[in-house]
Amino acid sequence: MKTSIIKGIGYYVPENIVKNKDLEKIMDTSDEWIQERTGIRERRWVLENSDESTSSMGTEAAKKAIDNAGISHDQIDFIIFATLSPDYFFPGSGVLIQRNLGLKEVGALDIRNQCSGFIYALSIADQYIKSGMYKNILIVGSELHSGGLEKSTRGRNVSVIFGDGAGAVILQASDDLEKGIMSTHLHSEGKYAEELAVISPATKKWIDKLVEDPDEDGSSYAPYMNGNFVFKNAVVRFMEVINEALVKNNLTKEAIDLLIPHQANLRISQFVQKQLALPNEKVYNNIMKYGNTTAASIPIALAEVIEKDMLNEGDVLCLAAFGSGFTWGSALIRW
Ligand code: UT7
Repeated sequence: MKTSIIKGIGYYVPENIVKNKDLEKIMDTSDEWIQERTGIRERRWVLENSDESTSSMGTEAAKKAIDNAGISHDQIDFIIFATLSPDYFFPGSGVLIQRNLGLKEVGALDIRNQCSGFIYALSIADQYIKSGMYKNILIVGSELHSGGLEKSTRGRNVSVIFGDGAGAVILQASDDLEKGIMSTHLHSEGKYAEELAVISPATKKWIDKLVEDPDEDGSSYAPYMNGNFVFKNAVVRFMEVINEALVKNNLTKEAIDLLIPHQANLRISQFVQKQLALPNEKVYNNIMKYGNTTAASIPIALAEVIEKDMLNEGDVLCLAAFGSGFTWGSALIRW
C-alpha cells in the first residue's frame, strides 16, 4: 500500500502587475469597489503581444516543482494539466508540457474542471499512486485569463477578478502511511453550467455561425458569471465539502492546521473561515496579489505557504474549491 505526498512544488506568475487603478482607466470601475467586493488589489496579466501562454507558464512552474522534488525528468510517469484557458481548443495543454519539458512519451491528461480543476487533478493522481500504477505524477494548474477577458464596462464584473499564473506539484508515492493525502471529495451540479461559463467557441457555435449571425455581439466569447448566485452557492458548497472531508477522517474543524481555499473572492474565504471558527493564521489567502487564477490558485498559494515555512510535519492541510460547472471538491493532507 502506498500513499501520495506532495514532494515538490513551484509557481510562476507573469511580471506585469495590473493594479485596480489601472483598470479604472479602461472601464467604469474603482479600486474601492474591487477591494470591498473581492479583496483584490492587483493581479498579473501577461503583456499583450508577449509570447507567454498557458502552457509556457505551466512549464515554468513545472520546472520549479521538478527541481524542488529533486527528481529527474525521466522519473515523471504521468502528466495532469488543469486549465480552463488552454493554448488551443485542442489538443490539450498536457501534451505541450510533455513537449516543452522534453519528457518521455508518458500519458498526458487534461482536466476541465475550472476552479476545482486542481483538486480534481490531485484526486485522480492520488488514485493512480495508491493503485501502484505510477510513482511520480506532474500536476499543473495554469491559466492565461487576460487574453479572454472582456476588458470593458460590459465585462467588468468578471474581468476585474481574474488573473494569470501557474502552479505545479509533483505527487509522489510514499511508504509512510502516516503522511500524504488522506482523502479527496469531488462533486458537480451541471444544472448550473451556464451560471459561470464561456459558451463559445463550441462545436455548436463555430466560426461560420458567428459570421452569419447578425445578433452576434461577441458576448458569448467572453466569460459570463451570475456573480451573486455563484457566491451564494460557493459559500454553502465550500462548507459542505470541507465538513465531508473532516467526517470521512473522523476529525473536527479544530484539527485543521491550515486551510487553503481556492482564491475566488476574499469575502468567500472569510465567510468559510468564520463558519469554521479558524484564526487568521490558519487560513491562507493571496487573492489580494493575484486575483482569481482558477486552476492555478491552490498550487500557487501552497507554493507560497511552503516558501514561508508555514507547514510543519504532521500538520493537517485542507484544500477546498468551488467554481464553474458547478464543480467543487476538497482534499485533506497530512503534511
Ligand atoms: O472562482 C469561481 C467562482 N467564482 C466566485 O465564486 C465569484 C462569486 N461572486 C463574486 O465574487 C461576486 O458576486 C462579485 C465580486 C462578482 C460581484 O460582487 P457582488 O457584491 O455580488 O456585486 P453585484 O454583482 O451584485 O453587483 C453590484 C453592483 C451592480 O450595480 P447595480 O446594479 O447595483 O447598479 C454592478 O453592475 O456593482 C456593479 N459592478 C461593478 N461596479 C464597479 C459589477 N462589477 C463592477 C465593477 N466595478 N467591476
